[in-house]
Amino acid sequence: MFDNEVASQIFVPFHEYRRPMQVERLFQGSSELVVEVGSGQGEFLVQQALERPQCRYIGIEMDWGRVRKICQRVARLEERERKNAVDRIRIFHVDAWIFFERMCAPRTLDELVCLFPCPWPKDRHEHHRLFSNEFLRVLNSRLKEGKALTVVTDHLPYAQWIEEQARAADTGFDLKLEETGSRFDTKFERKWRAAGQDVFYRMEFTKARNVDMPLKEDISLKAYYHQKFEPERFVLTDESAGQAVIFKDFLYDPRQKKGVVQVVVSEPHLTQHVFIGIVSTEKGWCVLKMGGQQVVPSDGVARAIELVSRAVEQSGRGGL
Ligand SMILES: C[S@@+](CC[C@H](N)C(=O)[O-])C[C@H]1O[C@@H](n2cnc3c(N)ncnc32)[C@H](O)[C@@H]1O
Repeated sequence: MFDNEVASQIFVPFHEYRRPMQVERLFQGSSELVVEVGSGQGEFLVQQALERPQCRYIGIEMDWGRVRKICQRVARLEERERKNAVDRIRIFHVDAWIFFERMCAPRTLDELVCLFPCPWPKDRHEHHRLFSNEFLRVLNSRLKEGKALTVVTDHLPYAQWIEEQARAADTGFDLKLEETGSRFDTKFERKWRAAGQDVFYRMEFTKARNVDMPLKEDISLKAYYHQKFEPERFVLTDESAGQAVIFKDFLYDPRQKKGVVQVVVSEPHLTQHVFIGIVSTEKGWCVLKMGGQQVVPSDGVARAIELVSRAVEQSGRGGL
């Protein structure tokens, strides 16, 4: 069962929402703001929101199936608790990097928590690990002075890796690492407990100094116009310096005089599939990001549109 009423109240449609996040528009009141990274099925998020009426909770989760489960969990609460949870929980279906770099203003959070982050145990997957030095610096900048981030992992090598990351360059945190027992009753804690593990690793990062990491702002994406376009002479070349722009496909409909280019744009912590249109208009051939896509307007997307525009111009001059 998917309760649309509960979902419409607690789920924040990230791409339609103004950035940076305006907390006063998300919730009533001005109580402490806690963010949980990777909320999974929401056991901890919902239980904490009910137990700590002095706090408002934001859950960040990039798996849609789990976002649904969090909404279902809230919908199943008895009426009084449900109202309480609906007033004080919001869920973002988004990658944590996007949330913290682009959505969450500096010095706005009272508490951060992440339970059992994906450990990526194989060496070749290490670059997928979330709690890198750079990520810790971004988290520091989003916390208020003296506030803390707690990370609990089942995987000692990941805890040790995070400790190394915290030492690699100043993250502005004082760090305490200790063993802990099972106490959160989340899906992943239950999984490890069932496999016989009863010691976990708790890392508490207290903000001792501020690290300045400004918000990444959205770019306003330009549309380009050209008098000529020759689809059969249209050649796109991938770019891999700085942000990578990889061209995947080009479709052209001569009856509608309309082309679509599919690209993958890879920037630090952000990979997006983008459709760029080449459309005949009264002002000429227009190159622009097509509507109806959930795309973060970034430098890389602006660059991809510019590259398509150049290729359109080149085609009109007789090709490369
Ligand atoms: C191992 S699970 C733990 C879930 C939950 N905390 C628990 O204890 O059951 C890690 C969760 O983090 C989410 N996740 C991983 N990387 C993420 C990211 N970059 N942004 C948001 N969520 C992420 C995954 O989708 C997954 O639900």
